[in-house]
Amino acid sequence: MMQTFTNQSPIIIAHRGASGYRPEHTLASYELAIDLGADYIEPDLVMTKDGILIARHENEISETTDIVDHVEFAHLKTTKIIDSEIKTGWFTEDFTIAQIKTLTAKEPIPKIRPQNAIYNGMFTIPTFTEIIDLVKDKSEKIGRNIGIYPETKHPSYFQEIGLPLEAALLLNLQDIDLPIFIQSFEVSNLKELSQKTDLPLVQLINDIGKPYDFVIDNDQRTYRDLLTPKGLKEIAEYAEAIGVHKNLLIPRDIPGKLLSPTSLIIDAHAANLQVHAWTFRNEDFFLPLELQGNPQKEYEIFFNLGVNGVFTDYPDLAIKQKYSQLNQK
Ligand code: G3P
Ligand code: CA
Repeated sequence: MMQTFTNQSPIIIAHRGASGYRPEHTLASYELAIDLGADYIEPDLVMTKDGILIARHENEISETTDIVDHVEFAHLKTTKIIDSEIKTGWFTEDFTIAQIKTLTAKEPIPKIRPQNAIYNGMFTIPTFTEIIDLVKDKSEKIGRNIGIYPETKHPSYFQEIGLPLEAALLLNLQDIDLPIFIQSFEVSNLKELSQKTDLPLVQLINDIGKPYDFVIDNDQRTYRDLLTPKGLKEIAEYAEAIGVHKNLLIPRDIPGKLLSPTSLIIDAHAANLQVHAWTFRNEDFFLPLELQGNPQKEYEIFFNLGVNGVFTDYPDLAIKQKYSQLNQK
């Protein structure tokens, strides 16, 4: 039934924390995810002007913080090109950690998650150090090792502006006796990391587009080109897993219904790569058409397919389904 490549049950990765229940990337979101039973918590990492790693999905922070209400920072509003996209707002690399600490987090999708908007203004923006301390503390109190699954966001961009993420990341993770996966949508920084650390690496693959370092290097390959048997073999030289958009495993038709699975899971396992799929969410807005109102069924389908892990905004439901399937064995 849940025949996975590692012969272990799939890991439950709390995507941006329990982000279905609390504003994403806050200590409250991570702590709740741990209390709900998640195996790993997933911080996306960007950097401040003074070189501190903090958890935000983007370095532009107007959607996820109350920066717009801080008149003292109005002069720092600007327009930049980040990975070929024009963005206007406030950017973490223009702020010191002391300035960032005066901000609070807000729910980025309040129309879909009004239940989270009530927490707007209650939580600060966590540093990676604070997140690690939380996970260590909770692991000790609960008596189980909780994993950390950090993502380097816009690594080439941060490298270009003189604030590389990787050295700070490895320094933070030094001597940590907890399960770790390090992930990136780019290729070159993972390859470099593989020379510097034995920690397991995850190549993220989107269903459209290409890694931004391929754009810089004028490499014509797209994400989909990385998924051929040859591409997967190359990834296996530096990574333990691929973290894939779930539509690459089971595509959808134009109205949004699930089609037949692709061969990706079989091909990846044949290349010795684990497969972690993203992102699982309860709301109908995100679900396949025929599963609307029944988000648990989506986990059942992907667990039966053999995924080794799922990134979810609602770790409790993923865990419920996982144990329901394990108990049927
Ligand atoms: O990191 C994999 C998963 O989190 C999907 O990416 O955009 O939510 O960081 P994103
Ligand atoms: Ca992520």
